[in-house]
Amino acid sequence: MSTLVTGIGELVTNSGEVSADGLDILTDAAVVVDEGLVAWVGSASAAPAADNLIDVAGRAIIPSFVDSHAHLVFAGDRAAEFAARMAGTPYDGGGIASSVRATRAASDGELRALLATRVAEMRAQGTGTVEIKSGYGLTVEDEARALRIAGEFTSETTFLGAHVVPAEYADRRDEYIALVTGPMLVACAPHAKWIDVFCEPRSPHAFTGDEARAVLTAGRNAGLALRVHGNQLGPGPGVQLAVELSAASIDHCTYLSDADVDALAGSGTVATLLPGVEFSTRSPYPDGRRLLDAGVRIALATDCNPGTCYSSSMPLVIALAVREMHLTPAEALRAATVGAAESLQCKDIGRIAVGKRAHLTVLDAPSHLHLTYRVGVPLARVLDVGEMT
Ligand code: NIG
Ligand code: FE
Repeated sequence: MSTLVTGIGELVTNSGEVSADGLDILTDAAVVVDEGLVAWVGSASAAPAADNLIDVAGRAIIPSFVDSHAHLVFAGDRAAEFAARMAGTPYDGGGIASSVRATRAASDGELRALLATRVAEMRAQGTGTVEIKSGYGLTVEDEARALRIAGEFTSETTFLGAHVVPAEYADRRDEYIALVTGPMLVACAPHAKWIDVFCEPRSPHAFTGDEARAVLTAGRNAGLALRVHGNQLGPGPGVQLAVELSAASIDHCTYLSDADVDALAGSGTVATLLPGVEFSTRSPYPDGRRLLDAGVRIALATDCNPGTCYSSSMPLVIALAVREMHLTPAEALRAATVGAAESLQCKDIGRIAVGKRAHLTVLDAPSHLHLTYRVGVPLARVLDVGEMT
């Protein structure tokens, strides 16, 4: 069944046909979708016939957001920790232990229902693809369970057994690393595309550069591709390690030295910025402009998680990146779509072009500029064009 989507006042394609780094915008446009893929893009007046018709009456359509960093498999609530932070208590990763306790205690059905609600919340705000990490189980069984359930919702699953050292291993860090790089990896690798590690020597709960290297190397040997949490709480080795190991993405990048920026600029590693985290931890925002001007490829994502940012809103992330990280609205939208798709090494999302997956997000607005201009207003939703692949 084909569907003609017409009446598109502004169509952001990111197709790269007009400019490699612009949004590539068509006006008075139409798109034909067939079997979940984009079959035709062009002027509404030249559109071919199709089985179904959707007229969006002058609204803007953009590629659906790609949320390339989220921790959605968890139970429990840490609103009190957020309130304490707003009153001055700094974040150090210690609160993760409380989410681990609640997640271990939850049944499969409870976790699945919580995850379904969170994914639906994302779609309702325009997100078409989400990466989902484990990391609140931290036993062999609980990490594998989290990835199995995450795999019911996305193919972008990430093993994050090295999120923090769990309480029962606090005095035996080496044993926990051996578990993560041994039996836990064996149980989790079949359910994951990626491996990630929270590399943050400043946190007593997270991992040093050497520990992170051991985790990532083991993951790569098990066939997983690499992502890194780094440079979140202060300067650290995360960026250099990610570049050295050719990780697809280094996420957070809140504190970057000039050497970090130089290393990223000459690399294939995408810098993923998570401004919802700076918002929710009252931290300084990194300068996205500095990265773009240096030639670094960037992505934007929510990091939706119970601790540092319990928001699933990509429009909020875009608005924060424009206001606080000095990106233009076009640069922020690019980073939240095709930039994030690059960080996941997915070529078939983040753009609206023939042959790409038909992930279309419609805005109750005439232009993508309204995502930032009308901050806080729920304008974006995924357009239902039949079964989404
Ligand atoms: O990306 N930094 C480590 N992990 C998450 C936070 C997890 C939590 O506090 O529950 C993050 O910010
Ligand atoms: Fe994270």
